[in-house]
Amino acid sequence: MHIVTVVGARPQFVKAAPLRRALMDAGIRETLVHTGQHYDPEMSAVFFEELGLPDPDANLGTGSGTHAVQTGETMMRLEALLMQGPLPDGLMVYGDTNGTLAGALVAAKLGIPLIHVEAGLRSFNRRMPEEINRIVTDRLASVLCCPTETSVRNLAAEGIVEGVHLTGDVMLDATRFFAEAAGRRAPLASVTTHGPGAYYAATVHRAGNTDDPERLAGIFEGLGRLDAPVVVPLHPRTQARLSGIAVPENLEITDPLSYLRMLTLVRSARAVLTDSGGLQKESLWLGVPCITLREETEWVETLEGGWNRLAGADPARIAEAAGMRPETPAPEAGEPGAAARIAALLSNR
Ligand code: UD1
Repeated sequence: MHIVTVVGARPQFVKAAPLRRALMDAGIRETLVHTGQHYDPEMSAVFFEELGLPDPDANLGTGSGTHAVQTGETMMRLEALLMQGPLPDGLMVYGDTNGTLAGALVAAKLGIPLIHVEAGLRSFNRRMPEEINRIVTDRLASVLCCPTETSVRNLAAEGIVEGVHLTGDVMLDATRFFAEAAGRRAPLASVTTHGPGAYYAATVHRAGNTDDPERLAGIFEGLGRLDAPVVVPLHPRTQARLSGIAVPENLEITDPLSYLRMLTLVRSARAVLTDSGGLQKESLWLGVPCITLREETEWVETLEGGWNRLAGADPARIAEAAGMRPETPAPEAGEPGAAARIAALLSNR
């Protein structure tokens, strides 16, 4: 069996790492295709290195652009690549990026069974480009690997029941596996300077926040009201939007962090403030409460017991949420082993 995996953005590299090992163990051959969406070394190469991923078999070199350009160019280049050889037995995509959508459309048109890892997530906000990408990808997928029971229900509500599997979350496999490696590393300067539990960690990169100056200003003002330093590894998208935004004194802005460094930063933080999907879960799995800088979340399970609180971009809500502690022990993480379950269901097809 031969699977082509399409990745292009940071969180996809993280999810692809446990799957790669599981596919290998199951005797499935994988060809790794990088769309080129994330191209800066600290957004891409460093992840491959730390995660033990081999160099991609192909890089489509798509880079940045409007949604149509990014999706269209990835489609054209991926289609050309796939048509060079015998078609694979499956094409695997992760999550909800433009590369996911491009991969889904190309696979569907070439008649290659589409495997969607992280299927069924919904924010019910169609103004998010990611929501459009998820809806279309799930419509076209033959194998839908759902991380949560909620995601299975979301698909059923849209009439999608065939090929749906509750596999669990591959990101949990990655966190469990790499948290150990992160622990063996020298501590980050930010952690040693401030001390464990004496700083917050924050990230902002969603278009809905970065491309709306009022929301971005609100978030920075909110972070400025927190009662401790805030370490903010900043995505290039956000860095480019900072002019005209007041950066409060307690903020420590850094370049984007590698995966292991990010795990190290999060693990010792008092709380995490983020608009990322993955970090909402990673922080909880590491026992750190989260404040989500959005109005909704796809990961509704994380809201249990006040471990994750929705604060939007409102400074008062952000400061209030950061001052609250969870009311219960952390919600159950679920069973690791999603990657092995996905590999097993593919080899049984
Ligand atoms: C993409 C995903 C988002 C995911 C995120 C993970 C889509 C629609 N969005 O958002 O769901 O959460 O990746 O990080 O696919 N840039 C660089 N260097 C890079 C990459 C990007 O400078 O290596 C800059 C470019 O100016 C670019 C901007 O960041 O225009 C945005 O990058 P893009 O790939 O379009 O989307 P992300 O914001 O990364």
